[in-house]
Amino acid sequence: MIEVTIPKSTKEWNAYYDLRYRILREPLGKERGSEKNEGDEAGIHFALYENTQLIAVARLDRVDVSICQARFVAVESHLQGKGYGRSIMTALENQAVGLGYQKLILHARDYALPFYEKLGYTLVGPSYKLFDVLQHFEMFKVLTHRE
Ligand SMILES: CC(C)(COP(=O)(O)OP(=O)(O)OC[C@H]1O[C@@H](n2cnc3c(N)ncnc32)[C@H](O)[C@@H]1OP(=O)(O)O)[C@@H](O)C(=O)NCCC(=O)NCCS
Repeated sequence: MIEVTIPKSTKEWNAYYDLRYRILREPLGKERGSEKNEGDEAGIHFALYENTQLIAVARLDRVDVSICQARFVAVESHLQGKGYGRSIMTALENQAVGLGYQKLILHARDYALPFYEKLGYTLVGPSYKLFDVLQHFEMFKVLTHRE
């Protein structure tokens, strides 16, 4: 059974940040702790579990009253390319719609661009370089609200 929810126990939170660290920070040679930031308190956290195993994580941040941002999207390395990234992004987008946001933005790593394009995001252009090395690209999607 696949479920997207917020981590609850300390063990689940540890696994959540551990996945974030291993997929998004360790390959860049960064130390533990670098996977967390000040937005973790206010952000909305998503964890995708299959039969209680953590497979993917993501965070939704408020930018302003109509714009939100997806951050720290990561899928367990040996399970990438199996649709889990799409699933967690769908859950995040549904929640963003439910909260009344009109637009979802994100800053994608170069190798993640085709993934977000598949999901309907439009490329704006290059944005910042993470740790001065990893070029990111701003993308957006206008959220569709049902009547
Ligand atoms: C990028 C990432 C989140 C995508 O999640 P995923 O589970 O691997 O992707 P999915 O299997 O859900 O792919 C959804 C669609 O995008 C396509 N896709 C995914 N990655 C792709 C790539 N690199 N190139 C081309 N297409 C890609 C898939 O083929 C699939 O298309 P389909 O539905 O037509 O079959 C995941 O691979 C990941 O964690 N990568 C490392 C960390 C990272 O880059 N995070 C994003 C930071 S901005």
